[in-house]
Amino acid sequence: MDFSGTLSILLAICITCWLLLPTRRKKNWSHLPPGPTPVPLLGNMLQVEVKELIKSLRKLSETYGPIYTFHLGSRPCVVLSGYKVLKEALIDKAEEFSGRGDFPAVQMWSHGNGIVYGTGERWRQLRRFAISTFKNFGMGKRSMEERIKEEAQYLVSEFRKTEGKPFDPTFFLSCAGSNIICTLVFGERFEYTDEKFLTLLNLINSNWKLMSSTWGQLLFTFPKIMRHVPGPHRQIYKNYLKLAAFVGEQLKMHQELLDPNNPRDFIDCFLIKIQQEKNNPTTHFNDETMSKTTVNLFFAGTETVSSTLRYGLRILLRHPEIEEKLHEEIDRVIGPHRSPCMEDRSRMPYTDAVLHEIQRFADIVPMGVPHTVTRDIQFRGYTLPKDLNIIPLLCTAQADPTQFKNPACFDPAHFLDENGRFRRNDAFMAFSAGKRVCLGESLALMELFIFLTAILQNFTLRALVAPAEIDITPESSGLGSIPRPYQFCLLPR
Ligand code: HEM
Repeated sequence: MDFSGTLSILLAICITCWLLLPTRRKKNWSHLPPGPTPVPLLGNMLQVEVKELIKSLRKLSETYGPIYTFHLGSRPCVVLSGYKVLKEALIDKAEEFSGRGDFPAVQMWSHGNGIVYGTGERWRQLRRFAISTFKNFGMGKRSMEERIKEEAQYLVSEFRKTEGKPFDPTFFLSCAGSNIICTLVFGERFEYTDEKFLTLLNLINSNWKLMSSTWGQLLFTFPKIMRHVPGPHRQIYKNYLKLAAFVGEQLKMHQELLDPNNPRDFIDCFLIKIQQEKNNPTTHFNDETMSKTTVNLFFAGTETVSSTLRYGLRILLRHPEIEEKLHEEIDRVIGPHRSPCMEDRSRMPYTDAVLHEIQRFADIVPMGVPHTVTRDIQFRGYTLPKDLNIIPLLCTAQADPTQFKNPACFDPAHFLDENGRFRRNDAFMAFSAGKRVCLGESLALMELFIFLTAILQNFTLRALVAPAEIDITPESSGLGSIPRPYQFCLLPR
């Protein structure tokens, strides 16, 4: 069934429900910011392109300003658009905006448990625990760096096997990124040919795609109805169950081999914490939270890094002059005989700027992840009631013309000062900001730097078409923007 057919059926179901169901009294939303007028049940969905939700939301902010109310079906949400208002909310009122908003595609599986989709005291404790455990295992420190360097060499040797012939890098980049999380969480990496590992990657990739598809958008908008409508979106829940089953097997193996005095990884640390808290009747540490949290880490950490790298390589194929400058800096600072390491970064401002610009431009989580306000608050003259959904349009900070000179263009100068030194920009919000800021930020930055420099140290990119023909506009169609598959060659240097 095509999309318009589905939409007609949905409309019919909505209107029938509206006519048959008794009117429900909703919370008083009368002091919310103004926005487009909603219609019952469909909300504002007739005023947007479901396939281009983000573009539509950005467009609406031209009419209604940086803060407006938008009805996702029958749920009112407040949309924040532009760096200034995002900073005021996520950073200046970090605590108040730290709730997690509805994420219907995952809710059926997560039930609000785990880090990414959790909220309140359980989320706080799980997040604190994960951060301190990651620190112990060297996230942002040397041991993790060694692991990433090692994985970069596996990646380079896989790339060598292509012998300069055209190929699509998607699969290899996903393996490399995911193996870093595997090391942290399971204490081991997998071969790129390992059947179970490949199944795991397929499940993550498939859910990321489904959640960003039109079907995913419809589920996001009309969760109660879409749960009963057949379609590919229903696979999201099934895939989560399979991911959880994989994690469950790992948990069992870890339980059998656990040495409380010598934890090997995140799961061992979680098992020890469960033991320590076993007499606490209100503890949040149990098998269920462990499983949900572990799946969260996989999902959040695998596709994000590899998609960013894929975009990055495509942008460099479009801009060979930038690739050339990167080669020059890599050759000057690292040379051909040793692996890139994090110490190099401070002496490679151009590479650092290019990586930030790739993240700004590619914008792989353009809509952020929905937040809620944790209590009734006054914000910019409006009353936002507790639990109100907030959509932080992170892409609007990263494309804010008051913060970036030429936001529509890919230009590493956005992150360089007049002396060619790396310059931070607070509007860089690829990892969001405030209390919910991405938990894997430092790990992701380390992976991006080491993987990209290792690739360019060993290869020159060669496009199959003229660079000017390569389209690098991000496909920000949904919650995550998935780069289109593409082929190119890597010529050994
Ligand atoms: C380029 C790579 C990455 C990008 C662009 C990215 C981006 C994001 C964004 C936008 C959020 C939502 C923050 C919010 O709610 O405001 C997030 C959350 C999160 N990310 Fe990442 N991420 C990346 C890599 C990673 C990695 C490698 C990990 C693995 C450890 C990770 C773990 C998480 C977790 C656990 C959360 C949920 C935090 C919470 O709700 O408290 N991310 N990320």
